[in-house]
Amino acid sequence: MSTHHPAAQHHPHTEWFDTARLGLFVHFGLYSVAARHEWVMWYEKTPVNEYEQYAEFFDPDLFDAREIAKHAREAGMTYAVLTTKHHDGFCLFDTAHTSYNSVQHQGRDLVAEWCKALRAEGLKVGLYYSLLDWHHTDFTVDFNHPRRDDPTARDDNATKDFSRYRDYLHAQVRELLTNYGTIDYLFFDFSYPRVEDGWEGKGRDDWGSVELERLCRELQPTIIMNDRLDIPSDLVTPEQYQPTSPMTIDGEPVRWEACQTLNGSWGYDRDNTSFKPISMILRMLADTVSKNGNLLLNIGPDGRGAITAHDRRILQQVGEWMRLHARAIVGAGASSFTPPPNTVYTQRGNRLYLHVFDWPFGHLHLPGLAGKVRFARLLNDGSELRMDVHDPNKEAFATRMGGQPEGTLTLTLPTRAPETILPVIELILSEDSK
Ligand code: GLC
Repeated sequence: MSTHHPAAQHHPHTEWFDTARLGLFVHFGLYSVAARHEWVMWYEKTPVNEYEQYAEFFDPDLFDAREIAKHAREAGMTYAVLTTKHHDGFCLFDTAHTSYNSVQHQGRDLVAEWCKALRAEGLKVGLYYSLLDWHHTDFTVDFNHPRRDDPTARDDNATKDFSRYRDYLHAQVRELLTNYGTIDYLFFDFSYPRVEDGWEGKGRDDWGSVELERLCRELQPTIIMNDRLDIPSDLVTPEQYQPTSPMTIDGEPVRWEACQTLNGSWGYDRDNTSFKPISMILRMLADTVSKNGNLLLNIGPDGRGAITAHDRRILQQVGEWMRLHARAIVGAGASSFTPPPNTVYTQRGNRLYLHVFDWPFGHLHLPGLAGKVRFARLLNDGSELRMDVHDPNKEAFATRMGGQPEGTLTLTLPTRAPETILPVIELILSEDSK
């Protein structure tokens, strides 16, 4: 079956993305100073003139793109994405179209710093750009706007000229894709073409998505773009949930990337400590790759731009695990073999990787693998695991193992799980078993 969906197509310039499997998302902006979620302006219905004051107090003295890039690389990530403008409209780049930006206010082009630092660490450069803009006067109020409950907003909408905002959006994207060298990945955010609470949402016609996409590809022919312009694009982006199988569109497997927070908030949220434990994060990573996806893991630098102590620890732990287990992740994808309970498989060529979420006692029975595995070992220390195939016709009895379906391979495990947060077993398949 052939398809025309772009997310099902593979090109030389999408290969880096398909093998990367792990990237870093960075949400940073004025909301990092408020430190209560990047949607703080929406939650608190803050008027623009009040919110604008954050631009005065925003002092990213500890924002160090090189340090972030270094942490990302050491965590085994090969790309990273920075919010160039979030829904609040404040721009972290030099733009001729508004003075509401970090060059005017802080004397720094954080996007320029970002691009340079990523390239210096050998990372692919990703930029996030919000389609929503709560600061622009021609951006009409809707249910996703801080003024949604303002009784004057409906009348005000009649005086706005949304096409002026559309021009602004296109002009800013042109700047981002012209002034900063090669941009590998562009993450637009987001469309909501539906009516809610009597407000019209926004979608492809509002953004001028078809033209905008054309512009991006013209300026950056090898760019990868997500699907949040409300038109089919290079990948789909499940957010804050894990798909239960490889993602498909019309039955075809598609390129996808799960973006995930560490505590439910993308921007720095000082008092929110609902952190996912590192064991969960690594399981989410293995789970994602086992379904052919990428994981874009987010950090929210604090009000000064520093990576928080917590996030730093998480990145270090991911890095420690990746140092030993990267080959089960980078360049790996789904396997056609069915894993036993509480495990997932990832596969790269004739290497099959069993990620063991919950260490069982004594043995692991692998259905369908009898006679297909040449060698088995723990990946963290390279130590061999003994393999057996038991007679399927014999019942299990006393000390005799049995009762496994035909074709089952049994691994003998040490009683104690290896000292790594997520143990992985590497199985080398015979060439004809792939
Ligand atoms: C959502 C949120 C936003 C966040 C993004 C990340 O669309 O609106 O705050 O930046 O997800 O994917």
